[in-house]
Amino acid sequence: MRFVKQVCYLVNLLHDCGTHKLNKLFKPCHQWSTDKITLRLFLQRGSLSTMAEMQDCQHDAGLYSPNPSVSGMTCLDRDAFNKTITVPVIRVKKEIINQVMKALKHRLVQRPHLKRVIEDPKDEINKLVLLDPFKVTSDESFEECDHLLFKKFGVSPQITKYELQLTYENFKGDEILRAVLPKGQDVTSGFSRVGHIAHMNLREHQLPYKNLIGQVILDKNPGITSVVNKINTIDSTYRNFQMEVLAGEENMITKVKENYITYEFDFSKVYWNPRLSTEHERIIHVLKPGDVLFDVFAGVGPFAIPTAKKNCIVYANDLNPESYKWLLHNCKLNKVDKKVFASNVDGRDFIKTIVKTELLKYIKLFSNEQKNKIHIVMNLPAMAIEFLDAFINLCEEEPCSDAVLPTVHCYSFSKDDNPKRDVKEKAESILGAQLDDCSVHLVRNVAPNKDMMCISFQVPAKVLYKTRADTADEPTAKRSRTEEESATEN
Ligand SMILES: C[S@@+](CC[C@H](N)C(=O)[O-])C[C@H]1O[C@@H](n2cnc3c(N)ncnc32)[C@H](O)[C@@H]1O
Repeated sequence: MRFVKQVCYLVNLLHDCGTHKLNKLFKPCHQWSTDKITLRLFLQRGSLSTMAEMQDCQHDAGLYSPNPSVSGMTCLDRDAFNKTITVPVIRVKKEIINQVMKALKHRLVQRPHLKRVIEDPKDEINKLVLLDPFKVTSDESFEECDHLLFKKFGVSPQITKYELQLTYENFKGDEILRAVLPKGQDVTSGFSRVGHIAHMNLREHQLPYKNLIGQVILDKNPGITSVVNKINTIDSTYRNFQMEVLAGEENMITKVKENYITYEFDFSKVYWNPRLSTEHERIIHVLKPGDVLFDVFAGVGPFAIPTAKKNCIVYANDLNPESYKWLLHNCKLNKVDKKVFASNVDGRDFIKTIVKTELLKYIKLFSNEQKNKIHIVMNLPAMAIEFLDAFINLCEEEPCSDAVLPTVHCYSFSKDDNPKRDVKEKAESILGAQLDDCSVHLVRNVAPNKDMMCISFQVPAKVLYKTRADTADEPTAKRSRTEEESATEN
């Protein structure tokens, strides 16, 4: 029944369009399966002369695939990719070649780095124009508009065959890797780009081919001069990767641009993730000129430097001496070294010393006018939430009623089915207080069952300020106050 329906559909199609349109409709013949068989049967029954084209077309399904002999290659042999294919050509007079090429753009052979016009040593008047073998299978493949064009330029629509030599240059990176790596296994050749470095995370089955993969990425991506592979899970302290250079230069000092700011750093020694640029931008946008930012885990400055550029007052800290070094370097590079106060201590110490002192100053300063805000960014998703306890009883004075409380933006991973609730509950449990006005934002999905979240909330005054009761018996006082409150709230 399905076959009959398809035949009827094709009869109508043929009747309506003519064979050239049908060819056009089904042109990437390696992409259709059931329809291809149906179409062949139909064409046989209808005794149409396009049968040969269809067979050719079917035969050419692997036309642009490298030679099967490259399968399993571990050391890149570029010559093994040389391959001769047959493509259709037309002859075009030399003086009108550019106009014809422009008009026939959609019918030309499409391959990387391939010259589509060939000199014929025996023909002084014409050149050969290489056509797409999937789009042009016979003279009949041309449409009315093509014929009008040929007429206008005096070009003969007669096509002939040309033996075209493809080389390594003419294959795309993923075509090469698909042909080399074992069939049926994932050949994902994706990478993150960090300046001149392509950063890969190869799977087990790809490791025997790692140097070849590195070389292909290097060859096929202009501007990349080094390919590295992550060789272990992210280092727990400074969040930088252990990496192995697969191809190209060993130099890991690189330069990137993010949100219009230039950063330089040694990628092997600091944390940098190009996938965070939207998140950096989101937070940068929240801060207004004159606001204060405390960046507890600042890295090389992707929150700190753009906000300083916006005329915010910035305190940026990182425990990794290399991050600190590059943070200072980037502040200078972007001419904000006078606006960013950098430090190189543990995040908890930073909160308990620098944040504590400066916070009180800005709370007093901002509380009168209520114009500016104080933000604290904590981007260390594996552990930042555990640092929230540093805010408990941080300020020793009693708050004034209109005190400007700081807004914390704290990052956390979650593997929970409900990551928003999960992160909120974790933060509440560490702070010992409910966060009724918080917002939880999904930053990105980092693994199939792992999300990176950002919880933003104003630190409640009862958490931040030490009361007399807290002074008497610190932990109990906070806990009992929270229990009492939750009892009245529920
Ligand atoms: C995930 S990175 C974030 C860097 C930067 N804020 C960004 O968004 O790209 C976390 C940073 O925290 C730093 N770090 C790790 N443990 C720390 C700690 N205990 N105290 C302060 N910084 C720490 C690491 O060196 C790293 O630069």
